[in-house]
Amino acid sequence: MKKFMKSLVLFLAMVMSVVAFGKEKLYVGTNAEFPPFEYLEKGEVVGFDIDLIKAIGEKIGMEVVIKDMSFDGLIPALEANKVDIVIAGMTANEERKMAVNFSTPYYTANQVIILNEDNNDIKSFDDLKGKLVGVMLGFTGDVVVSEMKDVKSKKYNASYAAVMELQNKKIDAIVLDSETALNYVKNNKGIKILESKGQPEEYAIAISKKNTELLEKINAAIETLKKDGTYDALLKKYM
Ligand code: ARG
Repeated sequence: MKKFMKSLVLFLAMVMSVVAFGKEKLYVGTNAEFPPFEYLEKGEVVGFDIDLIKAIGEKIGMEVVIKDMSFDGLIPALEANKVDIVIAGMTANEERKMAVNFSTPYYTANQVIILNEDNNDIKSFDDLKGKLVGVMLGFTGDVVVSEMKDVKSKKYNASYAAVMELQNKKIDAIVLDSETALNYVKNNKGIKILESKGQPEEYAIAISKKNTELLEKINAAIETLKKDGTYDALLKKYM
């Protein structure tokens, strides 16, 4: 009986601590300027990535807490332990792989060129030579354009600012990820996407190199969500 009482007390203590403290928190860094992956709606961060990470949180039994910050601050925040993971339509490229681990990829995109509708002289990435091209600071598009010869770039912190300047003919083109570019073209007048596409890029969740246990859990959750239809439902909802 004594033994039973002891285990009962232990059990109750456990239940109470879960009630008092809730689930373990998963701090998630993002940059909510990348529709449809993450953007602000009535002051709240929403989007494909946000739904995906919440579904992952459910699977691994953690409560997701979103922290919105500048894109180029995301990897430093991860390295400084201010967030546990980053989900931000982030391309798993070689340079970043030196600093962080990436989950299995969850989306494939390309860089594309956004132009004014009446622009018919830019037909490929090569035609950007001699032009002024808008890019977002620290995005892979920024890297792609910086590596091109004879192309000048203007760097922006927010994509909508670049779109406005394109519409006002302050810049000749914008290089941006395909899905987000499509989103801007749908919602803004007078701009179009060029058919010719850049290299494919894979989006993945970034995790500190020290946290391999979490990486494995997240990969397992992604696999489950792909199998059980959740992932496809999210694609349908946002793309
Ligand atoms: N895929 C690009 C990159 O990795 C752009 C990502 C921008 N994401 C964002 N949430 N602002 O650089």
